[in-house]
Amino acid sequence: MAEPALAVRRRSRISSARKRSHPPARLEAVCSPLKRPSAGCEGAPAEPPCNNDSEEDMFGDYDSFHESDSLLAQVLDAEHQHPQEKGMDMKAAGEFAHGNLQSEMDQNKQGNLHATEDSVHEVDEHYGFQMDENDAGDTNEDLSDSVFDELPSSQLLYLEKMGELSSRSQRSAGTEKMDKWKNSSLDKIQSPSPCPDSGHKNRSAKSSKGSKSDSCKSVSLKDHLKNAMTGNAKVQTPKVSKTRQLKEAILSEEISVARETIGSSSFDIGPFYGLPSKVKHLLRQFRGIETLYEWQHDCLTLKSLQQRKNLIYSLPTSGGKTLVAEILILQELLCRQKDVLMILPYVAIVQEKVWGLSSFGIELGFLVEEYAGSKGRFPPIKRRIKKSLYIATIEKGHALVNSLIETDRIDDLGLVVVDELHMIGEGSRGAMLEMTLAKILYASKNTHIVGMSATLNNVGDLQKFLQAEYYTKNFRPVELKEYIKIRDTIYEVDSKAENGFTFSRLLNFKYSGSLEKADPDHIVALVTEVIPKYSCLIFCPTKKNCENVATMVCKYLNKEFRAHREKEKQDLIKNLEDIGNGSICPVLRQTIPFGVAYHHSGLTNDERKSIEEAYSRGVLCLLACTATLAAGVNLPARRVILRAPYVASEFLKKNQYKQMIGRAGRAGIDSAGESILIVQEKDKHLVRDLITSPLENCYSNLLPESTKGMQYLLLSLVGLKIAVTQEEVYSFMCHTLLGVQQQLLLKEKSLSGIIRDELENLIEKGLLKGKIMEQDQNSKSTLTITLLGKATYKGSIDLSYCNLLYKELRKGLEGLVLESSLHLLFLATPYDMVPNCSPDWMIYLRQFNQLSSAEQKVADMVGVPESFIAKKASGQAIRKNVDSAIVNRLYLSFVLYALLKETNIWSVSEKFNMSRGYVQNLLTSAASFASCVLHFCEELEEFWVYKALLTELTKRLTYCVKTELIPLMEVAGVLEARAKQLYNAGYKTVAHLANANPETLVKTIEHLSRRQAKQMVSSAKMLLTEKAEALQEEVEELLKVPTDIP
Ligand SMILES: Nc1ncnc2c1ncn2[C@@H]1O[C@H](COP(=O)(O)OP(=O)(O)OP(=O)(O)O)[C@@H](O)[C@H]1O
Ligand SMILES: [Mg+2]
Repeated sequence: MAEPALAVRRRSRISSARKRSHPPARLEAVCSPLKRPSAGCEGAPAEPPCNNDSEEDMFGDYDSFHESDSLLAQVLDAEHQHPQEKGMDMKAAGEFAHGNLQSEMDQNKQGNLHATEDSVHEVDEHYGFQMDENDAGDTNEDLSDSVFDELPSSQLLYLEKMGELSSRSQRSAGTEKMDKWKNSSLDKIQSPSPCPDSGHKNRSAKSSKGSKSDSCKSVSLKDHLKNAMTGNAKVQTPKVSKTRQLKEAILSEEISVARETIGSSSFDIGPFYGLPSKVKHLLRQFRGIETLYEWQHDCLTLKSLQQRKNLIYSLPTSGGKTLVAEILILQELLCRQKDVLMILPYVAIVQEKVWGLSSFGIELGFLVEEYAGSKGRFPPIKRRIKKSLYIATIEKGHALVNSLIETDRIDDLGLVVVDELHMIGEGSRGAMLEMTLAKILYASKNTHIVGMSATLNNVGDLQKFLQAEYYTKNFRPVELKEYIKIRDTIYEVDSKAENGFTFSRLLNFKYSGSLEKADPDHIVALVTEVIPKYSCLIFCPTKKNCENVATMVCKYLNKEFRAHREKEKQDLIKNLEDIGNGSICPVLRQTIPFGVAYHHSGLTNDERKSIEEAYSRGVLCLLACTATLAAGVNLPARRVILRAPYVASEFLKKNQYKQMIGRAGRAGIDSAGESILIVQEKDKHLVRDLITSPLENCYSNLLPESTKGMQYLLLSLVGLKIAVTQEEVYSFMCHTLLGVQQQLLLKEKSLSGIIRDELENLIEKGLLKGKIMEQDQNSKSTLTITLLGKATYKGSIDLSYCNLLYKELRKGLEGLVLESSLHLLFLATPYDMVPNCSPDWMIYLRQFNQLSSAEQKVADMVGVPESFIAKKASGQAIRKNVDSAIVNRLYLSFVLYALLKETNIWSVSEKFNMSRGYVQNLLTSAASFASCVLHFCEELEEFWVYKALLTELTKRLTYCVKTELIPLMEVAGVLEARAKQLYNAGYKTVAHLANANPETLVKTIEHLSRRQAKQMVSSAKMLLTEKAEALQEEVEELLKVPTDIP
């Protein structure tokens, strides 16, 4: 199997030579560059195995861009190596550099018009929106011009740049640079071209299609790229319809007016909150949003926002908070011309948002960049013209901010939006969010911070920390009725009642004796009141319970439920079989015909996505799910049932309760919503407390006893040179949430005392160097980071494992077994998955026996003797002391080894008797950790030999799918199963997808809704645009004449 040309991205490089992204080494990758696929479980909504929710995405931020060669240097290399392929490669590069405007337009002209018109109608119908009189013309124009709606924004930008579309399009610095380049450097560089004619040709001749230079056999690819670029700049403006031109001109005009408006001191509301009226139209077209809620208007026009004060706002679930954030984001991108970072809690939500906002980016000319799973470049590419919206998970957002500080670019970030701000109080992810925000506050005075949440209580602390204003309103567009059920009685939650609830009704059900026994909590009665007509979610305390509830309900459901959308349910089963290479979970096979499924982290990402889609379309009407679904993807329900007031064995927290019930009655989807919490008599008093108590407070998680956050923060403060003396560190820490809450949280030790201890700890571990003053928090003595410290912080290695990792890597240098990847895999097996792994000894022995003798030696070398495994398998007593952490880690390496060999999660999970979701999570974590170890090794000279090995291993772990699917999996939200479908239908590259007609996609790809198809095409277009821009920027940078030539 041929290895693809891969671009492994590198995180946070200081070297100026690496400040830009470096494209892949081979030309195929230039034309269709590859990124790693989404790391499914990292930060996924459902909890990862091993009760490790809070650790999601912890190892997700190790993307690297390993190659340091520039694109053109690589291209020239390739030319030298494969001169016979040059003609072909040049053609490809020419096509790329020329942009796909022409082909796309041609294609659109030929076939798309009809389909696109239809699809616009359908979207309108779907959202049921009515045009107001003012907008009617606008929409008609849109229909007639829909051909051009399909143009990638890079092309529209180009048209705009050339001054064809807008009389007011101001000549940006980038355009001027481009002109300068065209006029000077290009000529200079082109003159030594191997083509004898090239030096004499005028530029227009070079640029025209099929020019002489194209036919010149010996022309270098570099020249060809340059020619193509110049061709782009000179190409005849395509025939754009007058209305389209007019619209673009108006948009451009409005953007510049808005820029001026926002820039001026008096905040005068522009056509649409300082934004072009096109935004309003797009909100209607893509979201079905006609007008803003009153609170949204009030919030957007807050004086404090106009004064660019930081803002926290809080409204109940489904209150419409996102829209306000999105309008602020657009203002920043379009009017203030600054980049924006949007931090969301989970990978799946990031992907959903990238899908949702890509179409806005395409229409309005900004870039949407995904920073989740294995996606995202560090530092991000510095764009010439377009501004970027980085949509990131907490971990990626943190890494992004680090890299911007390190490269002195933090001021490029105009706005940071944090959704679900209450997560700052949740474990190590909360600590990371706090670190990110504290660093921004400290390093950039101009970056605006906006945070939102439905479940905030101690807002004062957060306000102090973020120096923010606060806005709140008790608004929910769809009323949510809360009930609890005790025995057969339903009570309505009523804060005014003495108990906290009042009698509502008796549950109406007729249960047989056997049903009463099987379902004492009357779940069947509760769900059948709503399904199949309406959707219902039932939150269960454990994964096993989800499956049991789904099975039990189906056992007692009437046969008529089978008839409801029967064909679509059969299709879903078939789809799941395809995903499982012929196998399907027996529980799902049994429940889906009734419209019921379970949803938890034991499913693979593909399965989960399929089930979510079917539920959203109403094919499935009941999901039995775990709590994490509440914070995950947006799956609404008419009725939400809480099977018990517990998450695992812990009693429900108020915040969790609110998030779960908040899934009921979502605006635009349901007209009503209700929640029912099933309560046992014994828990009655606890539930009363739950209902009447306020939301939990958010407390800082930087304290050493809660997480390793403090140590990691101190290490990075010194590493990034944000604070390098005890005094500076103390001053920084006073401005964190922990600093704000120190009176409350620090009982035994003062903040300065804790800092002192933690710094000493870091010095002891050999990560920092310097002198710590016992009593003096104002010490000005400088602290420096050691090589090991830098490697640890650059590789984002957990501080508890950094010394162990160093030791194991050193040991590996003495005798790494390279007969297979097993030994290397052992070194890249994530430590944090080890404690919860309990090997099946028979399987362990069987797998061990199947290894070659060299591989068996690996076990012995790392400290797991064969006799130990054999004795364990036969149940004999063991006297020898063997480190169980190493034994377990080796077992996990066996799983990974099998995965790399088989690329089939299903068969491996069967072989090891593990859930497929767990196996997938192990794979994702290992890919991330391998990349961490790689970055760790890069900082330590003695480990140079690991670099090449780990680069390759990271690739293999990341792309543990068939090679041909990788390009498609770059597109946000396209997982393996979808990629397979697309590939089989002929959509083999991102370019195929970006140029696809959504209507055709819907017809040819099973289980794909029109909306998904459109969003997928938009995402692919965005990805292509983003890559093209990056390459154009690289070319420009390369061709820039240095100003300091001696
Ligand atoms: N002005 C509006 N008119 C109609 N629908 C709207 C409006 N604003 C938001 N919505 C819709 O309301 C729904 C819920 O909004 P949103 O997701 O922003 O809620 P939220 O406040 O973030 O809730 P949560 O706290 O649960 O995340 C979305 O489907 C959104 O499109
Ligand atoms: Mg929200």
